[in-house]
Amino acid sequence: MWAELLPVGRSSASGGYRRYAWTGADTDCRAWFREQAEARGLAHETDRNGNQWAWLGDPAAGNAVVTGSHLDSVPDGGAFDGPLGVVSAFAALDELRGRGARVTRPLGIVNFGDEEGARFGLACVGSRLTAGALTAEQAHRLTDGDGITLPQAMETAGYDPDTLGPDPERLARIGAFVELHVEQGRALDLSGDRIGIASAIWPHGRWRFDFRGEANHAGTTRLADRHDPMLPYAETVLAARREAELAGAVATFGKIGVEPNGVNAIPSLVRGWLDSRAADQASLDTVVTGIEKAAREYAAARGVDLDVVRESFTPVVEFDHALRDELARILGTRTELKVPVLGTGAGHDAGILSDRIPTAMLFVRNPTGVSHSPAEYAAEDDCVAGVNALADVLEGLACT
Ligand code: GLV
Ligand code: MN
Ligand code: MN
Repeated sequence: MWAELLPVGRSSASGGYRRYAWTGADTDCRAWFREQAEARGLAHETDRNGNQWAWLGDPAAGNAVVTGSHLDSVPDGGAFDGPLGVVSAFAALDELRGRGARVTRPLGIVNFGDEEGARFGLACVGSRLTAGALTAEQAHRLTDGDGITLPQAMETAGYDPDTLGPDPERLARIGAFVELHVEQGRALDLSGDRIGIASAIWPHGRWRFDFRGEANHAGTTRLADRHDPMLPYAETVLAARREAELAGAVATFGKIGVEPNGVNAIPSLVRGWLDSRAADQASLDTVVTGIEKAAREYAAARGVDLDVVRESFTPVVEFDHALRDELARILGTRTELKVPVLGTGAGHDAGILSDRIPTAMLFVRNPTGVSHSPAEYAAEDDCVAGVNALADVLEGLACT
């Protein structure tokens, strides 16, 4: 499976993946998913929100067990964030069949669309729409950096944007969703364990800071006469670091847009996107409020206007305790491995769906902790341990 998937959307320049929603690379990933489903005799469908499903058994019977993840990537992302969960899902099904397990609940494998939000700015669009956490009207207004709207992008890729919307009937048929994911930190490496179970996801969000100044000549405009939005932006980046350190949180300006973006022009606009996350809501509020207050002071001092817009927010997620304990119990009886329970600062579709259905996550060790980078890695032994653990979980939940 990896041999076919690895070349898709890979940049030869960076070695990273550029699999953005509704692009050619995304289409190729979707074709791969469909082939994997059909090669295993699974019924394949794409739902009203562009998520792909592969079914063993009839989901209409209800109480289905679903596993899977996403295939899209951040700009120059790694090979594992997302795809490891999908590849492992198909491999775990193969393992179950090899064991001769008798599957007694419908078993689904899913590829959620646009998890990373790299193109339209909002993460987990497919699962948010399905859960009703994003309305069709809001989704229709999403626009990429080239001004292409989500409906236009979907149509270009051959999908109907008019069907977008909540899918409660689909969710009502699912009794449990278990997402396997490469760990995006070093907790398992430090504890010396191959796999872990998720406890919670930190609250997190994205805020857009628009600093508007005045474009002017870089050579002839006296420093005292400038309204340069780059200055308060730069000061705000440092404030974000300071506020995050004070609160034991994280804050990142990882994306920036500059207009007119000329080497010899003072910018008229600097647009920076803040991603901030913390272990609890109060700390996150403190960090973001502190950054915004500092940004307003810096902007005023430089004669620059500032607008701050919250583009997305996901509150803290506590994964379903009963399902989490069930995973621990199953793995406790079936493997020799110690399986720690750990939290994460990364967002996931399982977190979005946890509001509506019981969800759980398995993490696979990442020896460097690096993620959202071409250097992201997981050792083959650990990936195999992940597949076996997922097969154990599916067998424990869905087989007699
Ligand atoms: C998704 O990977 C996120 O945590 O931003
Ligand atoms: Mn990611
Ligand atoms: Mn992911």
